[in-house]
Amino acid sequence: MNPIPHITLLPGDGIGPEVTAATHSILVDAGLSATFSTHAIGWAEWCAHGEPLPSDTLDAVRTSAATLMGAITSKPEADAARELAPHLRDRGVRYRSPIVRLRRELDLYACLRPARAWPGVPCIHPDTNILTVRESTEGLYCGIELDNLDTERAAMIHYDLATLCERTTGRIALSARITTDHASRRIVRAAFEQARLRALARNAPARVTLLEKPNILRATGSVMLDAARAVAADFPDVALEIENIDAACMHAAMDPTRYAVVVAENLFGDIFSDLAAGLSGGPGLAPSASIGDTHALFEPVHGSAPDIAGRNIANPIAAILSGAMLARHINQPDVAERIERAVARTLADAPPSTLTPDLKGTGSTQSLTDTIRRNLWSNDDKRVGSDTATQ
Ligand code: NAI
Ligand code: MG
Repeated sequence: MNPIPHITLLPGDGIGPEVTAATHSILVDAGLSATFSTHAIGWAEWCAHGEPLPSDTLDAVRTSAATLMGAITSKPEADAARELAPHLRDRGVRYRSPIVRLRRELDLYACLRPARAWPGVPCIHPDTNILTVRESTEGLYCGIELDNLDTERAAMIHYDLATLCERTTGRIALSARITTDHASRRIVRAAFEQARLRALARNAPARVTLLEKPNILRATGSVMLDAARAVAADFPDVALEIENIDAACMHAAMDPTRYAVVVAENLFGDIFSDLAAGLSGGPGLAPSASIGDTHALFEPVHGSAPDIAGRNIANPIAAILSGAMLARHINQPDVAERIERAVARTLADAPPSTLTPDLKGTGSTQSLTDTIRRNLWSNDDKRVGSDTATQ
């Protein structure tokens, strides 16, 4: 018999605790077989202890089957220094994003962001159903940055940069885009596997669109393109298309059905998945999974929304759908489908008095969660399909 999987809950900041509590209760009521423990992460930890990712939290994440996170507040460097507990100031303690650190420590290289429109929810394109597979360890977000470049340092990096420094007055900064063959191959492979699953669930041809800009970003772009073509040879049943990221954004805004599974490096994937979320219903409905070979973390795409925190009006659905992805990841697909069906039914049928304000309702986080809960075990068996499949 398999041991019962353990789930780490990281509520975090702002609306994070509200949407995490809602999701936890839905997972339990939907019949997820798991144990749970809650751990601290985020801004409050930084302010009190100078470390937003405590070591016991990292240990808990490392040893659990999967992690569900709410949201974390990050602020610019000056605010981080000002809000730090007085006894920790001027000691050289620096804020590092706990999300970026978790992704690195656990090698969560693939971020899966499904964006689908839901019947009953007005949106720009009701036929949107796109899974963005975003590389999460390198690209322009790799953190290799230099500020206040002078000619001497610039010369060590690139001849043209040194010339630029010589000719320009004022501050010059550089952020590097890193692309490795290793990371490119594994993210493309993850996308092809997702495309296969989707095609199977819908009985449709499998296809992956790689979004890049190799005509301008020639060195890094060609690493990604070569890797994609090499991996494609192992997936003769999946069609590979390659498009420029800028053109793809325009095409998606006009006709999102052009895309099914897209794969992209970190920045391009971040931007494109937000676009897809915007076309299909907004921040309250967009879930995500960050997957590595050994660990997985699930969280809504939205942030801590300080403007609505603590008011019981945050839409919990993005977090709840992330919970469904978690259930599927730990091999409980029946639980995942039950949750997705309940969300679909709620969005299609629930009166405005139960919906949160972002869905043009007058209800609360609590009333929306309660309605989804009631719909978990209703007999009307609307199939919604496993579009958020993570395995
Ligand atoms: P945000 O996603 O928190 O909020 C953007 C807008 O969407 C706000 O008007 C907010 O009220 C609304 N919104 C977000 N989630 C919602 C929900 N579930 N229901 C209803 N409305 C919702 O992004 P913002 O304002 O740029 O960032 C706020 C904080 O969150 C910052 O400290 C930022 O660093 C952090 N953040 C954290 C992320 C994470 O934990 N993965 C991701 C993005 C931002
Ligand atoms: Mg983003």
